[in-house]
Amino acid sequence: MSKKRVAVLISGRGSNMTALIEAAKADDYPVEIALVVSNRPEAPGLARARREGIATAIVDHQEFGEDREGFEHALDDALHKHRIDFVCLAGFMRLLSPWFVQRWSGKMLNIHPALLPQFKGLHTHRRALQAGVNRHGATVHFVVPEMDAGPIVEQESLAVRQDDTEETLAARVLEIEHRIYPRALRALAEGRASIASSGEDGNTH
Ligand code: GRF
Repeated sequence: MSKKRVAVLISGRGSNMTALIEAAKADDYPVEIALVVSNRPEAPGLARARREGIATAIVDHQEFGEDREGFEHALDDALHKHRIDFVCLAGFMRLLSPWFVQRWSGKMLNIHPALLPQFKGLHTHRRALQAGVNRHGATVHFVVPEMDAGPIVEQESLAVRQDDTEETLAARVLEIEHRIYPRALRALAEGRASIASSGEDGNTH
């Protein structure tokens, strides 16, 4: 079976992108990372992707000002130009409109550094420590119009330690992220994960 063509969307360092690139080097991995897109021209992850010989594109949201539709059309055009099957958001710091999300419905994953539905949004590690939770972790989920609310594909947790700081917790959660994202993408590419079969309402049955 031919490999699925995947685009990874980043805004920053791209360690999850790197985990996906490394996973895709295995012959039996059902995915080829065909494109890395950043909305920030200076994102460090771009250089890494180029070093790996992966096509990159910059769709700079600042060039579009208030024109979110224009930004998302440019993004969508880049994905189609590269014949992308699936999209992985990996530290992509732009909210996507319902128009874009519907277009890629069931084909777009995101990684979130918390055990959803707990701690949607930003500063998850700080909030987990403040809340005093015993367990924390990371989640890969389908992207739906509501932020961090889509059906869960993979999730893994860890025990929060007494002496954890935001930084130590983030570092351990990141190790989980790098494990579960390749696993979730494999499940999607092999047809073992879908919005419809998740048992939750993903808006797009
Ligand atoms: C990760 O913690 C991810 O869960 C969150 O943003 C961070 C991105 O890190 N959405 P990286 O760019 O993949 O290293």
